[in-house]
Amino acid sequence: MYTIILAGGFGTRLFPLSRTNYPKQFIPLFGGKSLFQKTVERALLTSSPDEIYVVTNAAHHFLVKEQLNSINAPCNILEEPCGKNTLPALIYATLTIYRQDEDAVILVLPSDQYLEVNPAYTNAIDAAEKLASEYLITFGVSPTTPHTGYGYIKPGKELSSGYMVDTFVEKPNLETAQQYLTEGYLWNAGIFCFRADMFLKECEMHAPDIISAFKNNSVKTAYSQVPKISIDYGLLEKTNNIAVIPLQTKWSDLGSFDALYSLKEKDKNGNVAPTDYITPDGENNLVISDRLVATIGLSDVSIIDSADVLVICSKDQSQRIGEITEILHDQN
Ligand code: GDD
Ligand code: MG
Repeated sequence: MYTIILAGGFGTRLFPLSRTNYPKQFIPLFGGKSLFQKTVERALLTSSPDEIYVVTNAAHHFLVKEQLNSINAPCNILEEPCGKNTLPALIYATLTIYRQDEDAVILVLPSDQYLEVNPAYTNAIDAAEKLASEYLITFGVSPTTPHTGYGYIKPGKELSSGYMVDTFVEKPNLETAQQYLTEGYLWNAGIFCFRADMFLKECEMHAPDIISAFKNNSVKTAYSQVPKISIDYGLLEKTNNIAVIPLQTKWSDLGSFDALYSLKEKDKNGNVAPTDYITPDGENNLVISDRLVATIGLSDVSIIDSADVLVICSKDQSQRIGEITEILHDQN
């Protein structure tokens, strides 16, 4: 099976560790490895390096190459002149693969999420590969909160494995998400599996301008012509030909320091501090710094230190980190 790894996002929600020129997926958060590198390792479970295509922004080409080299994974890199979100990236990569192999089956992995590999995960991927001859396959995670940053999937008729998708709604408002939670909807994990020919046929129907831009022009010209649109809004909300396979594994979009804290192993006081941290009384803190950090009388905070910025944030407010990047942006 082929794999497309989407690594062209500019995710800055883990500021100050993530920046526009150093997005979330490239930060070495797990035992010195980045989410991107962990994603490549997952891709290698079902694809050889020459079957893996990393699609990334030209600005991140060298970062990608360096991170691939350090895990000995000589994968293909497709460079985008500018970011137009995931649908153009997927059309570009799928056409590239289809031109070499008209029977290609492709797994799409986002590079910005944490996912634990367990038998449920590998079984779900196997099931998807089989079902991909009939449908575009999505993977559904059981929701725990009415998160408005995810796509929501309503499972319909049961299939040999998984379900037909009744409804796909990308990033609903809070009220709708709350309602979906009571109605058995699943979160879209952002992972997909499809036959290249079927995906391209669906795109001919629902995004004909993007397909023809890539078919009739150079990559650079195509990118200058196509709109910014995600696969979720541009295709999944429109097609009826999708199935969902439930995914039962530890999964997180790692959209905040709170999410990072909850994944990491804690000490007996509930602190997560990969480096030196001294405190007589601190509990449930997340401390990331290259130097020794000491606190007194501080609990339930995230302390994130980088070369030029120190952020200290109440843990229950970690969704607001974006406000800092917005203020900084306005000042510059
Ligand atoms: N190559 C490329 N080019 N990759 C991109 C681009 C682009 O222009 N934009 C985003 N990506 C990559 C990101 O780096 C990430 O790995 C993946 O594509 C998904 O993009 P996000 O921008 O992180 O999407 P999202 O998190 O808001 O929403 C998607 O993922 C959710 C699960 O995490 C959607 O698929 C949701 O429906 C889903 O619930
Ligand atoms: Mg994301």
